[in-house]
Amino acid sequence: MIVGAQWGDEGKGKVVDLLAERADVVIRFQGGNNAGHTIVRDGEEFKFHLIPSGILYPGKTCAIGNGVVVDPGVLIGELEGLRRKRIDISGLRISANAHLIMPYHVILDTEGEAKLGKLEIGTTKRGIGPCYTDKAARLGIRVQDMLDPKILRKKIFAALEPKKQLLRPFERDPRLDLHAMTEEYQGYGHRLEPYIADTARICWDALDADRTVLFEGAQATLLDIDHGTYPFVTSSNPVAGSACVGAGVGPTDIDEVWGVCKAYATRVGAGPFPTELDDEVGTHLRDKGHEFGTTTGRERRCGWLDMVGLRYASRLNRLSALAITKLDVLAGLDPIRVAVRYRSSEGAVLDEFPYHQTVLHGASAEYEELPGFDEDVGACRTPDDLPKAARDYLAFIEDHTGVPIRMVGVGPGREQMVTFG
Ligand code: IMP
Repeated sequence: MIVGAQWGDEGKGKVVDLLAERADVVIRFQGGNNAGHTIVRDGEEFKFHLIPSGILYPGKTCAIGNGVVVDPGVLIGELEGLRRKRIDISGLRISANAHLIMPYHVILDTEGEAKLGKLEIGTTKRGIGPCYTDKAARLGIRVQDMLDPKILRKKIFAALEPKKQLLRPFERDPRLDLHAMTEEYQGYGHRLEPYIADTARICWDALDADRTVLFEGAQATLLDIDHGTYPFVTSSNPVAGSACVGAGVGPTDIDEVWGVCKAYATRVGAGPFPTELDDEVGTHLRDKGHEFGTTTGRERRCGWLDMVGLRYASRLNRLSALAITKLDVLAGLDPIRVAVRYRSSEGAVLDEFPYHQTVLHGASAEYEELPGFDEDVGACRTPDDLPKAARDYLAFIEDHTGVPIRMVGVGPGREQMVTFG
């Protein structure tokens, strides 16, 4: 299983892309098209929001699990893009139980943020939160509903009823016309029907046959709705434990959990970020690391690596390995700083990630300094190829988390990876 160990955008897609080569099934288990990753294959760029990155390997089963929220228009757009590039998409499977993002979810997400004004969360405005809200309220529309127009219409009607007041300004919006919406989603159903399946069963069958299933997490631990920096979080559970629910397997089916973490830290949207930098080092990280969102194009907030947050992520996910990405971006920075503890606004030392948001909002990071390196590490492929200062930096991360590093990204290309052991 691959999960994000920070605030997202760690480069999970690249790690999944590499590991997918050895997997038989790749399945996503939460989130929706709020996620986004770019994969560079033979000089060609692929951007994914919903489809698991394994799709680039012909013959692999790539599943969108029941825990994912699916915007069918976006999914079809992605499929068309892949078809145009002559990528075989016959391995795609979509859970019949996954929930659908409806036009009113997108409107409510955008309106909700506007109403919050200064208190906005900075969502991706893709309708994720309202869709999960409807799921919990048992007012959701599921993938299987697209195949039954009568049920579809009834369910859309029922879902719209309690939202009437909120949607009053959009009364005449053609996107919200019951008849048009039913037709639109019925059309999506026709197009997606060949791919709709019981994806939990696909996982069980693969596991029973001793095949490898790769669980692909989206977003990340500190954006988890239960364990992250609530309310500045996404509306699903990106932590490892949630993969069992979102894919339909048992905890004993999982034998490895890898956390993906950048060699520094970034965050998109609002919320606490104790190691955030507002200086030329932050600019260096943003420019050199191309820290702009794949989904929204927003500038990412940048800062030093935060061990307090990473230790928290290691324990929440019980990580068995770490993949560190974008080590190359640190070249030229000397010294490299790493946050090892926080100091509360009252002066208390905090070694653990504080559970109280007020404490976290007021906390400042305290750092250790490590020597930097100037060398371009882009051509390194083994640990011995790396400069000593880079190796020491990685050893420091292992010491402070107790989790072994198995992969280190040294550039955007898929071959630009140092593998350990
Ligand atoms: P939502 O998931 O669109 O509701 O946004 C909630 C929060 O999660 C916002 O701060 C977003 O910026 C953040 N977020 C959602 N998806 C991603 C992602 O894939 N990478 C990084 N941040 C994300």
